[in-house]
Amino acid sequence: MTYNPHYLDLQRNYLFTEIASRTAEYTTQHPELRVIRLGIGDAVLPLPPVVIEAMHRAVDELSNQRTFRGYAPEVGYDFLRRAVVEHIYRPWGVEFTTDEVFISDGAGSDIGNILDILGGSLRVAVLDPVYPAYVDTNVMAGHAGQLQDGVWSNIIYLPCEASNGFCPQLPDQRPDVIYLCFPNNPTGTTLTRSQLKQWVDYALANDVLIIFDAAYEAFVRDEDVPHSIYEIPGARRVAIEISSLSKTAGFTGVRCGYTVVPSDIRTYTADGVEVSLRTLWSRRQCTKYNGTSYIAQRAAEAALTPLGHEQSMENIRYYQRNADALRAGLQQLGLHVYGGQNSPYLWVQVPDGYDSWSFFDYLLTHYGIVSTPGVGFGSAGEGYIRLSSFALYDDCQEALTRLRTL
Ligand code: MLT
Repeated sequence: MTYNPHYLDLQRNYLFTEIASRTAEYTTQHPELRVIRLGIGDAVLPLPPVVIEAMHRAVDELSNQRTFRGYAPEVGYDFLRRAVVEHIYRPWGVEFTTDEVFISDGAGSDIGNILDILGGSLRVAVLDPVYPAYVDTNVMAGHAGQLQDGVWSNIIYLPCEASNGFCPQLPDQRPDVIYLCFPNNPTGTTLTRSQLKQWVDYALANDVLIIFDAAYEAFVRDEDVPHSIYEIPGARRVAIEISSLSKTAGFTGVRCGYTVVPSDIRTYTADGVEVSLRTLWSRRQCTKYNGTSYIAQRAAEAALTPLGHEQSMENIRYYQRNADALRAGLQQLGLHVYGGQNSPYLWVQVPDGYDSWSFFDYLLTHYGIVSTPGVGFGSAGEGYIRLSSFALYDDCQEALTRLRTL
């Protein structure tokens, strides 16, 4: 029997699995305690009404012989690819053809799957702290090298710390791929247009591919913060953007996302023959993916209509109010809090005497509050916890009330 040895190099549990298991263990021992979950960023509000109606209509269609549909196109139904082009990118002044947009079951899958088309050996650069899936999927693919003191030898880490305003420096060695996520998970901070332009210019000058995770774009409130990397001139030649409706429209359970692979991204074989990443991705999806469900795609189409957008934004504003309340309340307690302005996440420095995991444990066992330890996102996250504003407003208030004795 054989196996992929790189899986043995991974931490025993994925970060959010570890948190769920520690929380479950605690709640089993203390069934009387109502735990407030500010850990994983998971939607808690019901889906927008137009989305629900569209799903009911899609179920009715599937119930009728005349309108029944089987396999969806692997790359997505044209109606949804068109909706992404017209309702997501066009308002930002960005034009794509529908065949540059690929519908998926969410950003999480494509973040790992994209490695299939990028070659057998890769040097990747990630921000530190970083959403763990970028690193884990590179470990699984054998790109990460050896793990020493929490650091992978073949990964270039770009620290994002309070001292640099959580704005990473360009790498001093050239990677093949840079992962960027803005608004950032986990720090909740972001880049302005001119800051993001430096990354696009670097990628253009050095022939580097950027994988841009835009999952939190709906939370952008500031005018000078881009929603998409394609707002930056030249990005369509160097960037793949991966996004989803999970955080925008509460689709964490429904599952629908999209990945844009522009035709302008070209690379070359050793013999100088042009290769289109868009064509490779289409080929990959047609072989390995059987399509996102019709019901989910009709739901997503509804979420992208002007009414769906407005209803989704009502939910986003609700989470933003949570983020504002949590930030103000935590600052009143004397904590240093970052992020939350253009993001659902707050990045909170732990008080003296704690590290990330000991403060996580303290919050869970003394206050019944679930957080995410910053060090779980990388060594530069040590000394922080992340709080998610995907919660009920009353629970955020209750968390602040409990924390008064901190
Ligand atoms: C998070 O909490 O960082 C994310 O929501 C988890 C995910 O999207 O997989």
